[in-house]
Amino acid sequence: MEIVILRSAQEGAQLAADMVAEVLTSGSNTVLGLATGSSPLGLYAELARRRRSGALHFGGTSAFALDEYVGLPSDHPQSYASIIRDEVVQPLGLDPAAVHVPDGSADDLVGACRAYEQAIQDAGGVDVQILGIGANGHIGFNEPTSSFASRTRIKTLSPQTRSDNARFFDSPDQVPEHCITQGLGTIAETRRLVLLAQGEHKARAVAAMVEGPVTAMCPASLLQMHPDATVILDELAASALTLSDYYSYVYEHKPAWQRHDPATITAERERHK
Ligand code: F6R
Repeated sequence: MEIVILRSAQEGAQLAADMVAEVLTSGSNTVLGLATGSSPLGLYAELARRRRSGALHFGGTSAFALDEYVGLPSDHPQSYASIIRDEVVQPLGLDPAAVHVPDGSADDLVGACRAYEQAIQDAGGVDVQILGIGANGHIGFNEPTSSFASRTRIKTLSPQTRSDNARFFDSPDQVPEHCITQGLGTIAETRRLVLLAQGEHKARAVAAMVEGPVTAMCPASLLQMHPDATVILDELAASALTLSDYYSYVYEHKPAWQRHDPATITAERERHK
């Protein structure tokens, strides 16, 4: 796992955009994995800025969201379908038909979960997955004690997650109790993971993810087992890390052979499709 500690969220958004751009330019028909919430908003804005300036093109790109609330109609302003449409599909000019969000309003939720997994497989898997982290260590909506082998399924949101997300709703009781989320096993199969975290309220979860044991009590600790995971932090989110000076030293001295070269990314993608 690579840990990058930067002075501001804006620098983090730029680095994450560089990483997404590397993947976009390494082959055609890129499959993006999308998180919602506050953490990736700067990244999406930076990708949109690069698109407007002509530096990035998203033709042929498809995408899969990590999760969706159960029971919110897809046109509800806080449904992740609405947020992905407003923050990603429109600003990046993606084809709406190529951007998938789990169907939290389906009559057959179990069938919708199965179909979502199949759609990811049919697309050849996710090339680069953007992640945030919950204050309780969740990724997607895989709450503590989620199985590392889990696939897309219905989950019950923890009281902490409901209270953390209440800021997006008019009142806390409007936050749905259930969601559909990609599983930890699903997320583990994506070829590249880029996790963004900002702010002191994430510091404990970040320290558990990076320096704690690999445990279902901190679902994000899964990243310790992934061959290509980068964690991009601001100084507050990094403030509980024991080895932060070492991570900064490693990043500053990153040798050329450790950088991702486009040919290797292209070869990896071809191998899996
Ligand atoms: C949302 C998601 C969640 C969030 C996490 C952090 O799609 O997957 O894991 O990334 O709850 O949320 P923010 O970024 O709002 O702090």
